[in-house]
Formats: sequence, C-alpha cells, structure tokens
Amino acid sequence: MSLQLKPRVAVRAKISSVGSFVPSRVLTNQDLEQIVDTTDQWILERTGIRERHIVDSGMATSDLAVGAAQVCLERRGIDASEIDCIIVGTVTPDMLFPATACLVQTKLGATKAWGFDLSAACSAFTYSLQVGAKLVESGAHKRVLVIGADTMSSITDYTDRSTCILFGDGAGCVLLEPCDGDEVGLVDFWHEVDGSGGGALCMPAGGSLHPPSIETVEGRQHYIKQDGQTVYKFAVRKMMEASERVLASAGITGNEIACFIPHQANKRIILATAERLGMPEERVVINIDRYGNTTGGTIPIAMDTALQEGRLKKGDLVLLASVGAGFTVGATLLRWEF
Ligand code: UT7
Repeated sequence: MSLQLKPRVAVRAKISSVGSFVPSRVLTNQDLEQIVDTTDQWILERTGIRERHIVDSGMATSDLAVGAAQVCLERRGIDASEIDCIIVGTVTPDMLFPATACLVQTKLGATKAWGFDLSAACSAFTYSLQVGAKLVESGAHKRVLVIGADTMSSITDYTDRSTCILFGDGAGCVLLEPCDGDEVGLVDFWHEVDGSGGGALCMPAGGSLHPPSIETVEGRQHYIKQDGQTVYKFAVRKMMEASERVLASAGITGNEIACFIPHQANKRIILATAERLGMPEERVVINIDRYGNTTGGTIPIAMDTALQEGRLKKGDLVLLASVGAGFTVGATLLRWEF
C-alpha cells in the first residue's frame, strides 16, 4: 500500500468531537404534497429525501449552531470558555450583521473566543474546517469550533416545487485540537471556485446589488433560485474530480477510504460520485432521507450520523466532499481520531 500521509505541517489538527442539532418539527414529503404539485414518489426517486426538519418561528441559525456546539462540547467534556475561535459556515445568518459567530459566542458563553462567518454555501463546512485547521496547525489556537449551520426554510420558496422539496434546517459542529503525533488528523484538502456558475444557484436580492424593496419582495427574489440540471451535472463531475485530486495527492485510491461523508444534496449525486471513485455503497454515509439538504450543515450532521452508527473508528481514512453555490468545490482527507 502506497500511503504517503506525511505531515506537511509541524502540528496537525484533529477532529476531537462532533455534535449536531436539528429542530424538532418534521416536514414530510406527504406534507409537501399538500403545498405544491408534487408526490412522495417523485421526491424520493429524484432526490432520496423522505423528510426534513424545519424551524418554528423565532428559531434562527445561531440557535441551531449553539445546539450543535453544546452537544459537541459536552461529548468532549470541555467548557465553552475554553474555546479560542468559532467559525460558522452559513448562507442563512440570523441577520446580515453582526456575524452569526458573534451571536453563537455570547449564547454559548465562549467568553474568550473570537470568530467569524464563512460564506461558501454547501462547501461552507469543508472550507471552514480548513481555515480552522490552519489556526490550530499554526500554533495560534488550541481549540477551534467549526460549525456548519443553515436555516434553509427562511429562504425557501414554498410555491416552487423544484426547490422547496430539497432543503431542510440543521447544524453540525466539530471541535479542532492539535494532534499529539501524525497518525491521525486532517491530512490534505483540495478546494476550487468556479464563479462563472454563480447564476445557477443563488438568492438574487437582499444584498448590495438588489437591496430589499417592494419590487424584490413581489418578484420573490429573496428565495433560492436554482437551475437544477446545471448544478446536478457540475456537482457529479466536481465532487469526483476534487475527491480524486485529494486521494492522488495522498497516493491512495477510493477503495482505501473507510468512510465517505459527502455533502447531501441528492442521493443520485452521492451514489454517482461513489461509484466513479470505486467506493462500495456501504462505506458511504447517506442521511439525506431524514434531513434533506441543510447546506452548511450536511457534512457535520452526516459525520455525527456515522459516529452514532459506529461507522468511524480510530485510524480510519475518511473523505469529505462538497459542491455548492458559487460554484464552490471542496474535498478533505483525514484520519479519524477517536
Ligand atoms: O446543494 C446545492 C447543490 N444543489 C444540488 O446539488 C441540486 C442539484 N440538482 C438536482 O438535484 C436535481 O436537478 C433536482 C432534484 C433539483 C431536479 O431533478 P431533475 O431530475 O433534474 O428534474 P428536472 O429539473 O429535469 O425536472 C424534470 C421534470 C420537469 O417536468 P417536465 O418539464 O419534464 O414536464 C419538472 O417540472 O420534473 C418536474 N418537477 C417535479 N415534478 C414533481 C420538478 N420538480 C418537481 C417536483 N415534483 N417537486
């Protein structure tokens, strides 16, 4: 076996804990049949989704993020006051500013932490993970919380059957700490952006280009707009290419990955990527049936699913992969710590 997982840094960052949180209210495919012209069968066959969790009025992204962070910290047995930095990957911040990370910092009681939000849509977690890892690897910080959280129901148009069936609300969180050796931890990553795809998946209004107005509201411009097939084709190609890049850099093949944790946008995208990487389905974590697409939340929530199902063991090679609006592309290779 040609494993070349030599550390490229003096200190490697490892994931030392995971937590996730979804709101209790469930929106099933049958519920959506009552809202738009769709069927449970169409949704299940085209996406793999059965149900998703949706917030009640008054709950926002910072609440989901805090819920996930509390589970993560409790499992590690440390207090929020020991956190150095909080990164929140999200496209649905509570408000444009202050950053959701600031709201999480105070709600969590992370008294000495600084933090910021990172906007990369469905790649928000993979991108945030690398930024957090660099803070640990540089020696600047010992404990960084990386959160992927989105309240997609707040920007979903429940009159548009092509998008409203896809999205759910939820958050996942990991704690990053320095590794003692180089046997475990984050090994390598590959990130790309293709900004030419910006129009294929976006929320057109509410920013500086089209500030909120009666026209933008009446034009339903504060909701997700997606050219599904364009995004689908790009996602299948790029999830695979980014994964191959990171595997090639480590000198390994998809067959050597013990657990593949992809962004959960569509079960068909996930299975097509796994097949092209030569990865057996039983090594792929799929929970889209229960949560839908929670954007920044999907990968850390799926990581928690894998953990709870006993599918992650110390030393396992784990591959994360994402494609999101932007377009943003990310893949991360790591060796599981615990
Ligand atoms: O995480 C961010 C990245 N996002 C993604 O990765 C999403 C990528 N795209 C997709 O997952 C798929 O393109 C969708 C699930 C969004 C759509 O599936 P599709 O197989 O590409 O369907 P389509 O858009 O080609 O539509 C096929 C037909 C159309 O009807 P006609 O024109 O053939 O008569 C649609 O109007 O399905 C119709 N349709 C629906 N029918 C029942 C679209 N949405 C629905 C629906 N229920 N909810």
